[in-house]
Amino acid sequence: MEKIDNFKEYLAKISRYEQALSLIYWDLETYAPDKSVYYRSKALAELSEMRYNLFVSNKMAEFLAYFAQENILRDLNETDKALIKVADKEFEKIKKIPAKLVRNLAETTANANLAWKQAKENDDFSIFQPYLDEIIRLVKEEADSLGYEKNRYDALLDLYEPGLKTTEVSEIIAYLKENLILFLNKLLEEGKEPRDDFYKGNFDMNKQKELSLEALKFMNFDFSSGRLDTSVHPFTTKIGPRDVRITTKYSTEDLRYSLFSTIHECGHALYELNIPAVFFETPLDEGASMAIHESQSRFWENIIGRSLPFWNYFSTRIKLIFNSFKGLSSKDLYKGVNIVERSLLRTEADEVTYNFHIMLRFEIEEALINDKITTKELPLIWNDKMKEYLGIVPPNNSLGVLQDVHWSNGSFGYFPSYMLGNLYAAQLFSKLKQDIPSYSSDLEKGEATSIINWLKDNIHQYGKMVEPQELIYRVTGEKLNPKYFVDYITNKYTEIYNI
Ligand code: CO
Repeated sequence: MEKIDNFKEYLAKISRYEQALSLIYWDLETYAPDKSVYYRSKALAELSEMRYNLFVSNKMAEFLAYFAQENILRDLNETDKALIKVADKEFEKIKKIPAKLVRNLAETTANANLAWKQAKENDDFSIFQPYLDEIIRLVKEEADSLGYEKNRYDALLDLYEPGLKTTEVSEIIAYLKENLILFLNKLLEEGKEPRDDFYKGNFDMNKQKELSLEALKFMNFDFSSGRLDTSVHPFTTKIGPRDVRITTKYSTEDLRYSLFSTIHECGHALYELNIPAVFFETPLDEGASMAIHESQSRFWENIIGRSLPFWNYFSTRIKLIFNSFKGLSSKDLYKGVNIVERSLLRTEADEVTYNFHIMLRFEIEEALINDKITTKELPLIWNDKMKEYLGIVPPNNSLGVLQDVHWSNGSFGYFPSYMLGNLYAAQLFSKLKQDIPSYSSDLEKGEATSIINWLKDNIHQYGKMVEPQELIYRVTGEKLNPKYFVDYITNKYTEIYNI
């Protein structure tokens, strides 16, 4: 079958532009000198356009039309069928959104991003509001171009979590609210908050790095296929085959920040690194969705990294690096990384409260996209929902409605992925415990290989071949079920807070 090889060679060509783009992007976020940014951004734009033109070319259309023929498609193997499907979906999506809209969105979001920064700095929502109105107008146009059956917001959700519907997210949220709001109140009113003072302070950067490297060693991160660097916001990027880079940030106030950022990003990296070589330089060489990706990072960060078996091992490692932990037990160290707080910022939220931050964003986005509310009301609606779900009201808009960059980027429909990632992680964990009864004694020995292999066999090896909800069904035998998350949270924190 020669044609399929030609098609893959064509996709590889596109992928090589993407590899160059990723490397420039990574460099901009890490080491590029300030004065290079202007020209480097132009290089990015130029290469993106070349990549885009290759993707929407007549040649691409010819390939896809050829493989759309039933007698041709029938004879392909499963991987190649999935490859055609994924490439076709992306192609159709790009075709549906008018080029003029893409340009308008790019221009508007560039300006909106600056306005958002100014608004946040000056705590003045009115600076950002007109830009947000324009973005919402364009995003609605985008959703209408993409098409949907019932709810316009479905079209946007589908961009990040294929197949997911607004009604499903609403049902999940109703269940979480019902089970977690009262639990949170009880925890904070009746529970005993653990000590965590020993994690606060200005820890030596080199030693913080040593600790991060210790965590990466535990996770079997392969330094011959990746790197660890620093950036303002920690991230993971796949440059190309056998090159997945993560970053962290060393805080001068809290040791936990760099450690858990590193573990989180390495969770993303293991996913990318375990995708099989047959998918390299094709659209299958990435994760199933944003939420499945986040399920991997959250799994390592919270379910493993904030577990007692892990700290039974890791407490000896941390004590070898920092003298100040000598008198503390592994249980003290474990409890100290599991503090629950009513906090204003999503990015600083703990496992118990995190999803509340997502719920209010989802409800606001859905209402905005369907013209149920206006941007003028946003600060008030935001604060009301904060009060209802988290019991606190932001003292200003910078710590409230203006805190996230996403809306200024036009990323509507993205937030639910974070919440779903938490839920998927808990559901996967429940299955993993059944499949690997020795998982906790493995962890206590500092042995993560059994867990890594399980994730590889059940999730990573499929890359983007299987759609997220199908993947979860295949692995766990049921569709996404928020009960696993609620059980995990209530069991864990009932014990830690002694209620
Ligand atoms: Co992440």
